[in-house]
Amino acid sequence: MNDINMTYEEALSHAPQEEPARQYFFIERCQDILENLKEVSGKEQLTFHIATFGCQMNSRDSEKLQGILEAIGFVEHDTEEADFVLYNTCTVRENANDRVYGRLGYLNSLKKKNPYMMIALCGCMMQEEEVVAKIKKSYRFVDIIFGTHNIFKLAELMYERLEEKKMVVDIWEGTDRIVEDLPTERKYSFKSGVNIMFGCNNFCSYCIVPYVRGRERSRSPKDILEEIKQLVNDGVVEIMLLGQNVNSYGKTLDTPVSFAELLTQIDQVEGLERIRFMTSHPKDLSDELIKAMKNSKKVCHHLHLPLQSGSSRILKVMNRKYTKEQYLELVEKIRTAIPDISLTTDIIVGFPGETEEDFNETLEVVRKVRFDSAFTFIYSKRTGTPAAKMEEQVSEEAIKNRFDRLLDEVKNISSEVCGREVHTVQKVLAEEVNDHEEGLLTGRLGNNTTVHFKGDSSLIGKIVDVYLDESRGFYYMGTLRP
Ligand code: 5AD
Ligand code: SF4
Repeated sequence: MNDINMTYEEALSHAPQEEPARQYFFIERCQDILENLKEVSGKEQLTFHIATFGCQMNSRDSEKLQGILEAIGFVEHDTEEADFVLYNTCTVRENANDRVYGRLGYLNSLKKKNPYMMIALCGCMMQEEEVVAKIKKSYRFVDIIFGTHNIFKLAELMYERLEEKKMVVDIWEGTDRIVEDLPTERKYSFKSGVNIMFGCNNFCSYCIVPYVRGRERSRSPKDILEEIKQLVNDGVVEIMLLGQNVNSYGKTLDTPVSFAELLTQIDQVEGLERIRFMTSHPKDLSDELIKAMKNSKKVCHHLHLPLQSGSSRILKVMNRKYTKEQYLELVEKIRTAIPDISLTTDIIVGFPGETEEDFNETLEVVRKVRFDSAFTFIYSKRTGTPAAKMEEQVSEEAIKNRFDRLLDEVKNISSEVCGREVHTVQKVLAEEVNDHEEGLLTGRLGNNTTVHFKGDSSLIGKIVDVYLDESRGFYYMGTLRP
């Protein structure tokens, strides 16, 4: 079976049909070709580099892609001067696409110097037809293009590229499949993302995600729990449950399970210390979930609750399915149950038709809720979404003015709010050595605020007690407690 001279057709006829066995078959075949390439090129090792754009879903996907590349035999390299360069792209806003096109020219210049180099593109941007057409036409030097639904196929696609010696393009429109048990690598030894669901069914009118990530699909609680137990066995103490809308987890399973029930089950995994999750859609955040968070010792007191706009009129056109009043009531309810909760949000400025009055309502909600932090975005028109066809696009000048005002407000509030735990002792997960000052470690509180404190690197990955001496706006300076 490991005959390097097997033709592409022969290999296809030998490949198992079922997954993940099929991918392990292609991983082995790629291993052989790689050994051969090493000899021919005289290189001791062949390297890879992955650049990840966008959200935590993409970061987690990149860890899976890295796992496959390492299983094939590639060694990680920290710049794009590598033998296999993969861009895992994002398309949520137009500027993310522009960045990718900008960097492709540079990759081409590297490829001219390295005849063994392969360039692969995947992720959300590749799910857009015009993008793939443009790359096929104007960026012929790209070797492999795949999308969001078939990342598990990387070894098979690479094998096809190596054997057929032409550009391989494999984009799926959608999928109902979730392939489990492929190799994966983790960026951090002590914390990890865990996908609980894929896709989104909400169709907020500005958002391209439902078109590029497909319909909502949940993993079974059994698969999720097994993965988490395995991670904990490997030394992970903190997990981040990932989904575009975790509050609607489990609705499409054969035996429906709510997100709150899942959280309660995960809470019982021994050795796991912290549980985070994102993203929550306000319309689906249940009382049951608030209760589960309140009753758990492990679920961190942090909620990322995207507001998008404070104007009920704009929220309706955005298809968010809640009003300003409902959002404020929800915040009130959460704060009553969990007083020390930290709230963060996403806000879009300049959605089509947004007036000065609408924007002032957003500012009003920001002032009322007093978010710990807010990610602010200028509305970006995404082809294919309902909002792209809306007239009354807001002028650039008005958008800039509103964006600056919102940012000022958000910054002022968060510098006040973030200091609220000063002069208390808090549990901190020590995450990394601070690059700026020798002897300092950087860690995070349960509510996600950063803390710098003196300590040595043996503490990394451990949860330690730290006294918060001073608040410096967005972070604390602290002292380790014995
Ligand atoms: N323009 C600007 N921001 C957007 N987001 C999603 N789509 C767009 C768009 N077209 C923002 C939303 C979302 C975050 C991940 O990105 O605020 O919550
Ligand atoms: Fe996009 Fe709305 Fe789905 Fe979030 S919930 S991914 S904003 S469609």
